[in-house]
Amino acid sequence: MSSGYPTQPLIGSDMLDREANILPAGHGIFMLNSKIEGIVDSESLQSEFAPWWDGSNNESGGLRVVDAKGRAIIPGLVDCHTHLLWGGDRSSEMRLRQAGMTYRQIAEAGGGIAKTVQSTRSMSLGELCQNGITRLNQAVSTGTTVVEAKSGYGLNTEVELRLLEAMRVIGDSSVVKLLPTWLGAHDFPQGRTRNEYLDELVSSQLPAIAEQGIAKWVDVFCEDGWYTNDETEHIVRAASEYDIPSRLHVDEFEDSGGLALASELGAVSADHVAKSSSESRQSAAEGGTMQTFLPGTPYVLGKSLDSPLNECIENNWPFALASDYNPNCRILSMPFIGNLATTRMGLDPFAALVASTKNPSTTLDEPDVTGTIEKNGRADLNILWSESVDGWCQTPGENPIVTTMIAGSIVNSNR
Ligand code: NIG
Ligand code: FE
Repeated sequence: MSSGYPTQPLIGSDMLDREANILPAGHGIFMLNSKIEGIVDSESLQSEFAPWWDGSNNESGGLRVVDAKGRAIIPGLVDCHTHLLWGGDRSSEMRLRQAGMTYRQIAEAGGGIAKTVQSTRSMSLGELCQNGITRLNQAVSTGTTVVEAKSGYGLNTEVELRLLEAMRVIGDSSVVKLLPTWLGAHDFPQGRTRNEYLDELVSSQLPAIAEQGIAKWVDVFCEDGWYTNDETEHIVRAASEYDIPSRLHVDEFEDSGGLALASELGAVSADHVAKSSSESRQSAAEGGTMQTFLPGTPYVLGKSLDSPLNECIENNWPFALASDYNPNCRILSMPFIGNLATTRMGLDPFAALVASTKNPSTTLDEPDVTGTIEKNGRADLNILWSESVDGWCQTPGENPIVTTMIAGSIVNSNR
């Protein structure tokens, strides 16, 4: 089964092909009504549309010149996996990890997701929105223009719906495109039996979410200790009855066949996939399930960053990168994720850019989000500080982005 979304990611050597994908310096981008109208050489663009421009008078007759000053321009960054909305603080878990406790042991001791659920349940819709807007602005400040966001810290119908409603409110008021995923199956809530909660998921949460049209995808934390493969399949199949496709958390700590299941179920994307087998990577590639790697999580957990990104390139397996922003992984910067992928996992910086723009955009089914700079695409782009495209992810302690535009409007300038 394939996700059925029409646009195709770049794979294999195409992810390294700078000649085919990067225009040399000296080009200008003509934008009109939020879209890219054309890309031509800067001099003819200026003489045709802005002959009055002398380097300082940037606006005339409804036309505006933005001088990139020879700096590189890249597409808006697409973060296709975040847990944007939650309350509380989990900073104290670092000491527990240093004392030798694993993520699972911390969860079993009442920390982890359960702790965040407690603090999130007491937040009002307004508080969630405020919180989310601050975080979205922070993501925009490092070049992100499209964000997928998951619920999953309510674990009951009322609060899961509140989280998704907050995403709707934030998305309606923000220039960032915010795309919601229902992750009611993030954990099992305290005080309910496993079967009671599974029943609530499919007979109460799912119908309410479908009725309100408030989530674009369903997600399940499919991992030993959380949701089994059978439970994951049950939830994904129930959602597909309502035409809600899936993007899933799989094989984060162990290979439990999660990626194989995801591709069997036609998931749009299978995320984490740190421990998946080569066989299941091959079937995911054949079936059209994107593998989305989340290097921020092993980084904050102090694990080795050894996901086979270059093996994906060698085998023509499509893959994407995302932040996995969550209470335990406070990274909203896609350039920092690109930095981990390049400095710690040996990925080519341009391939890392493809995995953070074009490739994730093919999992979103949003025709105006291309993750590229091309004619007729939405004018989402970043002017870098560097003259080299590679500079997008090579300054982990500094912001590599000077200016961000969404749909043709400047939404952030850093210097
Ligand atoms: O993708 N692994 C499951 N969910 C999140 C973490 C959630 C949390 O620790 O609060 C993740 O890493
Ligand atoms: Fe996640």
